Amino acid sequence: MNIKACLFDLDGVIVDTAKYHFIAWKELANELGFDFTEEHNERLKGVSRMTSLDILLEIGGIELSQEKKLELADTKNKRYVSYIEKMEPDEILPGVVSFLNELRLAGIKTAIGSASKNAPLILTRLNLTSFFDAIIDGNRVSKAKPDPEVFLKGAAALEVSAQECVVFEDAAAGVEAALNGGMKCIGIGETVNLGMAHMVIPGFQSFTLKDLEQMN
Ligand code: G6P
Ligand code: MG
Repeated sequence: MNIKACLFDLDGVIVDTAKYHFIAWKELANELGFDFTEEHNERLKGVSRMTSLDILLEIGGIELSQEKKLELADTKNKRYVSYIEKMEPDEILPGVVSFLNELRLAGIKTAIGSASKNAPLILTRLNLTSFFDAIIDGNRVSKAKPDPEVFLKGAAALEVSAQECVVFEDAAAGVEAALNGGMKCIGIGETVNLGMAHMVIPGFQSFTLKDLEQMN
C-alpha cells in the first residue's frame, strides 16, 4: 500500500466536541442579546477561535474593540473547557478506536491536525494520546485551514511525503487544506458539504483498513 500515514482532524472526526463549542458560543451570543442557531454554528467548523468570534459578532451585527474580543473569546473558551473536562470516553465517535487500532497493527503512522488549542486536553481526557505519533494543534500553526500548514507539519513530523498521507476531515476548509497540501482526503459527513474529497463516509462505523487500501 502507498499510504504510510493517516492524519486526523479532531473535532467532528475523532470526537463530537462540536456540540460543546455550539453551547458555549450560543451562551455568549444570548448574553450579547441575539440568537445563535445550529445552522450558524456550521460556519464555525474548522475555523480558529478568534475567527469564530468574528463570524458570531457579524451574525449579531456587533462591532467590538480587539481588547473586548479577546475577553469574550476567553470567556467562551473557559466555558468550553468546563464542558470538555467532563467528557467521557463514550463520546469518542463510533468506530474510531477500532480503526486506530487497525492502523497501529498495520504500522501506519498517525497524527492529529487540528485548529484547536484544546486538542491535547481532549486527547488526554479521552485516553487517546497514545494512538497518535504526532499532534499538530492550534498552538503549533500560524495559518488556518484551508492553508495546508497543519497537515504538512503533520507529514513532516511523521517523516512521510504528502502523497503518502490520507487526511480525515469533517469541515470543507479542512478538505481543501488536505487537497492544497497534495494529500488524499476522506470526508467525514455528507457529500453535499464535502464533495471535493476523494471519498466521503458518514463515519468510521463500517470503515476498515481494507477500505483505505482501495484508495491506492
Ligand atoms: C476546531 C473546531 C472549531 C474551533 C477550532 C478552535 O477547528 O472545528 O470549531 O473553533 O478548532 O478550537 P479551540 O478549542 O482552540 O477554541
Ligand atoms: Mg473538524
